[in-house]
Amino acid sequence: MRTQVLIIGGGPAGLLLSQLMHRQGIDTLVLERRSRDYVLARIRAGVLESGMVDLLREAGVGERMDREGIVHEGTYLALSNRGFRIDFKQLTGGSVMVYGQTELTRDLYQARDAMEGQVLHEVGRVQIHDLDTDSPHVTFTKDGRAQRIDCDYVAGCDGFHGVSRKTIDPAVLREFERVYPFGWLGILSQTPPVSEELIYASHERGFALCSMRNQNLSRYYLQVSLQDSIEQWSDDAFWDELKRRIPLAAAESIVTGESIEKSIAPLRSFVAEPMRWGRLFLCGDAAHIVPPTGAKGLNLAASDVYYLSRALQQHYNDNDDHGIETYSATALSRVWKAERFSWSMTRLLHRFPDQSPFDWRMQQVELEYLESSVAAQTSLAENYIGLPY
Ligand code: APR
Ligand code: PHB
Repeated sequence: MRTQVLIIGGGPAGLLLSQLMHRQGIDTLVLERRSRDYVLARIRAGVLESGMVDLLREAGVGERMDREGIVHEGTYLALSNRGFRIDFKQLTGGSVMVYGQTELTRDLYQARDAMEGQVLHEVGRVQIHDLDTDSPHVTFTKDGRAQRIDCDYVAGCDGFHGVSRKTIDPAVLREFERVYPFGWLGILSQTPPVSEELIYASHERGFALCSMRNQNLSRYYLQVSLQDSIEQWSDDAFWDELKRRIPLAAAESIVTGESIEKSIAPLRSFVAEPMRWGRLFLCGDAAHIVPPTGAKGLNLAASDVYYLSRALQQHYNDNDDHGIETYSATALSRVWKAERFSWSMTRLLHRFPDQSPFDWRMQQVELEYLESSVAAQTSLAENYIGLPY
């Protein structure tokens, strides 16, 4: 078998790249280790930068997002049960779109189906070969049978635990990492959101976040110790603790209910360099991870796909390899800025086990400065809505 761009990973990065390439007449094939239902069952975030919203519309998958997504022109930050608003619209003229990653991935699969895009699910033992030649190929198993696909390029969109990054020569690959000493306990509940916009709350007892999926599906998070287990956190214990950490008005008005999903996620900052090695390009979580505090994970996958899709279009349609040559540097420049923002939001809003009373006072004063400074708010707002591509 043969294709032009072989994409490993059928998550949002791989599917969006495949969709954009197909609309440009460039042939792709997606290899996904899991079943479609498994991929769609993953509960992930859902705050989209304006650049990603535009890219999804360009890819022809913006219709349901524009119909069901919620535009947010601001967000709330809170310190010790008292909140203040960051007005994105007034400060930057921009906004974000709240639309779940699960829904977005579903839209991408439907769009691939509509264009008869090739996505092979439940493949195994994916291995990448000859990336330092003009004709790489990928081997894998499907239904127990060994298969081979020849291609021009490989796009590694296979997430943090994928095979692509591990194929890069260890002598070339550089990895930067910060693992945070706490996790996020998240629940999904079929209750109306406590606030029209998100609330990022800093509290002596730890961080909390109030988010939503729609008018009757809410998503809440609590900073917890990595030693904690789900079993330790009954729904009642979760709601009680959440009420202690969020602004008083929200705590009094919040509608609680049974959780329909509950999970603990570790927090990590991670970047792999370079994002291109020979005929291999890395996109999304395969190359970088951000702590969710800045809502950048999905959006960084989209900007990688934006740069790579432009580069491949230039190569195939204009016989110009400038985009391919500069892909890694261009993508990494935006990745590191989002890493900085996500790290600074995490450092600002969470309680660190080893922090001193001075450290805690610094966090409080930094939030008070943010509340009083238009300049500081503008910096946060422009990073949150997304820096230009
Ligand atoms: N072979 C084939 N598929 C693989 C392999 C492999 N060896 N390893 C992993 N995969 C698949 C996974 O099953 C997954 O469906 O690659 C896909 C990677 O998808 P994601 O992890 O969703 O990564 P990405 O598409 O880059 O999206 C990034 O996902 O985790 C969130 O916060 C993150 O929102 C961000 C987004
Ligand atoms: C979410 O809705 O799941 C969410 C929103 C914002 C974040 C992280 C997660 O920063």
